[in-house]
Amino acid sequence: MKERLEALKHEAVEQLGKVADAIKLNDLRVKYLGKKGALTEILRGMGSLSTEERPVIGQVANDVRGAIEALIEQKQTEFQRLETEKRLAAEKVDVTLPGRKLKQGAIHPLNQVIQDIEDIFIGMGYKVADGPEVETDYYNFEAMNLPKNHPARDMQDSFYLTEELLMRTQTSPVQARTMEAMKGEVPIKVICPGRVYRRDDDDATHSFQFHQIEGLVVGKRIRMSDLKGTLLEFTRRMFGPNTQIRLRPSFFPFTEPSVEVDVTCVKCSGNGCRVCKQSGWLEILGSGMVHPRVLEMSGYDSEEYSGFAFGMGVERIAMLKYGVDDIRHFYSNDMRFLGQFARV
Ligand code: DAH
Repeated sequence: MKERLEALKHEAVEQLGKVADAIKLNDLRVKYLGKKGALTEILRGMGSLSTEERPVIGQVANDVRGAIEALIEQKQTEFQRLETEKRLAAEKVDVTLPGRKLKQGAIHPLNQVIQDIEDIFIGMGYKVADGPEVETDYYNFEAMNLPKNHPARDMQDSFYLTEELLMRTQTSPVQARTMEAMKGEVPIKVICPGRVYRRDDDDATHSFQFHQIEGLVVGKRIRMSDLKGTLLEFTRRMFGPNTQIRLRPSFFPFTEPSVEVDVTCVKCSGNGCRVCKQSGWLEILGSGMVHPRVLEMSGYDSEEYSGFAFGMGVERIAMLKYGVDDIRHFYSNDMRFLGQFARV
């Protein structure tokens, strides 16, 4: 039995000497020292030994167990050390390297233009109002003096959800909503930026969905000269201090009189070029004195109060300001395009 134990030790030492990883090491531990392992197997024969032999063999068995355990432990420590070394090498960080630059996002040019316009009007004492994109026929058209079957509705053909609900075609309904919310109080000075929708074919300057900014001022003795002064101040802040404006008679159902407002060409300053088709002027918005009917419908006495309103297309302003020739660039999310507007 002693020989068998010695042979076992010999074999184990040899096997353990060759072992190269932690999993195999564990296999060997089970093989030699496990409950059903080789050592246990040999020790089963202890019962047949004489009383004198038993302690001697017992001692040898303990020595063998001890030797194998020590060797396994030594191997384990070695494997752990190798593992740690490997990880340290793999996860090495050179703290002296310069940091990696994080890519930073930027505000979308359309939002940027909206914010710039908001800032200009907030500086003039305006508040920013908001209205729903799904709008009722009443607010979108009727309260804006566009009764059912009015021919001017044609220009703003839209997406109807029901007979009475549609995607708003303009931000003008916020005029009526604001006046109703103010319950006849003055002064009102609001702008309202937002999305509008029209059944339009997409091309370089049209999109079925775009952005407008509406403006409304209601108070006592508000005159056309107030409108002109306000829009001149706005355009100079937006396009530069030497910008001139020109008011042309026009028609909108919700204003009387109505005007279209042109600015001196952003490219040639009025000399005539390709951008302004040699005219020196660029149309940027619609405007006018709030129609008495619109005031009355929203609860304002048109004998006592007057006001002006304006509406502009954000995309158009952005295209003029930045010389963008296709509206679709704003919606295609091409980082090469958008990145050019990042302000640092
Ligand atoms: N709502 C008009 C449109 O979408 C733009 C407009 C014109 C708004 C004149 C106004 C205005 O407030 O006074 O074509």
